[in-house]
Amino acid sequence: MRKKIVAGNWKMNLNRSEATELINTVSEHLSGDIQDRHIWIFPPFPFLTDAVRKTAGTPIKVGAQNCSMYTSGAYTGEVAADMIASCDAELVLVGHSERRQYFNESNLVLTEKINQALGNNLCPVYCVGETLEERQGGKVEEVIEKQLVQALYHLSAEKLQQVVIAYEPVWAIGTGETATPDQAQEVHAFIRKVLADQYGEEVANEISILYGGSVKPANAEELFAMNDIDGGLIGGASLKASDFIAIFNAL
Ligand code: 13P
Repeated sequence: MRKKIVAGNWKMNLNRSEATELINTVSEHLSGDIQDRHIWIFPPFPFLTDAVRKTAGTPIKVGAQNCSMYTSGAYTGEVAADMIASCDAELVLVGHSERRQYFNESNLVLTEKINQALGNNLCPVYCVGETLEERQGGKVEEVIEKQLVQALYHLSAEKLQQVVIAYEPVWAIGTGETATPDQAQEVHAFIRKVLADQYGEEVANEISILYGGSVKPANAEELFAMNDIDGGLIGGASLKASDFIAIFNAL
């Protein structure tokens, strides 16, 4: 079922008391019934259990920013999907461009992470997006298609429907430069087309596709108004409760 979602990716920010304060403020300001909208947060690993506890009884769902491609064992420093699920977190980001760029995560590694997430009943938020160089070289569709095909096409239609996709153009992340609503819509429609080619239109229409990259209260509404944009994955602005809530209210 295609959901409307605003998700906050905190990245490697905040200490434990700052994290607690942010969660408290966001939950206090979520007024009344949020109807069919969803609000998700992705704190760093050490704060997952705190976040799950503090959001109990609120509509906020909690996820991790990464998981291991392995199930368990001698992989020092890694965190398994099963561990995340056992903390009652429900979601996990897979393939954020910062993981691809700085930690060399390939589409093939990400295939394993998607399988680990789904195998542990976590909803994977699979991130795709092109660099500025790729955009300028006219390669947007080629890059995005490869990211989708290599990491997702092995899934059954039923499993695919448990995945959320985030389109995050690398050139728009943390730069203050946002894709225009038309630019973002064009890629979101393309993502849906690539999924429809393999799974049919009905399935593709059920997948939530979020936009990420310098979303702010000032530009959220026009982005979320586009046909194929089902919400946002927010970095910097998710660290400020009032901005995050304002973006959520734009849904
Ligand atoms: P910014 O909103 O800071 O550009 O980050 C977007 C992002 O990477 C979310 O995952």
